[in-house]
Amino acid sequence: MATHHTQASEARAADSGAQASARFKDRAAAHRGDQPVDHERVNLLAGKAIKALTDIVYEDKVSYEEYNALKSWLIKVGEDGEWPLFLDVWIEHAVEDVATEHREGSKGTIEGPYYVEDSPEYEWDAKIPMREDEPGTPFRFKSKVTAVDGTPLSNAKIEMWHADEYGLYSQFAPGIPEWNLRASFLANEDGEFDIKTIRPAPYQIPTEGACGQLIEAAGWHAWRPAHIHVKVSAPGYELLTAQLYFPGDEHNDDDIASAVKPELMLDPKPSSDGEGEEVQYDFVLDPER
Ligand code: DHB
Ligand code: FE
Repeated sequence: MATHHTQASEARAADSGAQASARFKDRAAAHRGDQPVDHERVNLLAGKAIKALTDIVYEDKVSYEEYNALKSWLIKVGEDGEWPLFLDVWIEHAVEDVATEHREGSKGTIEGPYYVEDSPEYEWDAKIPMREDEPGTPFRFKSKVTAVDGTPLSNAKIEMWHADEYGLYSQFAPGIPEWNLRASFLANEDGEFDIKTIRPAPYQIPTEGACGQLIEAAGWHAWRPAHIHVKVSAPGYELLTAQLYFPGDEHNDDDIASAVKPELMLDPKPSSDGEGEEVQYDFVLDPER
């Protein structure tokens, strides 16, 4: 298992980064031209970003060696296809906080680089697609989706995606069936779900590329705690993007992506059907504004 894990993590760095970039470009292309450029806003934000960087240069007396190291590194982030990884690990959590600060319903967190749209649809009580010999602890995820006023949402949908027992995501790491551990589930008439999956492993962001180089050079670690990604939606309600975490994970308190919130902690119990674990975790959606 250790060997499999090492080989797998070496194989995935280039693949995961390049895949994440390619997919993001496709998604962005589909939306390009939707909005005219807001010159005032670009002036404000780009101006502030440049000032923040030049402030650091003065404050910390950045040398030409350091400036050139930055140039080389920025070029490499692009070459390795790691801009989505970099941004989702270090910046997205702040954007998500700002985007959802008005909400009264469930807390969300970052989407990360490994979401894929249009996953195959299943009934409310189905098993997520997995390999016949999928390793990992069976995990039963029960949920009820309501509106902030308590109304059960019978037309709710939960899109779920997560890493496997080795911390790898289908469609980003090589050699995994296309929709492995990815699916959309449709609620029953009471807005309920009873989804069967396995517990994902903690996830290490690819260490071989530019992001890994930064982590190594700064003396940080590359780990995210084990997590299950969800998007919870219903017509007329705001889309909730979240990740759910497991108590006791050693990286819950120092997630490299700063995406853990106490509200997103699961409380798994031994499963009533005797195999693995189960959990009840409900979602509350805000009406569209
Ligand atoms: C990254 C990976 C994840 O699985 C995630 O949820 C967030 C970020 C990343 O490698 O950037
Ligand atoms: Fe993830």
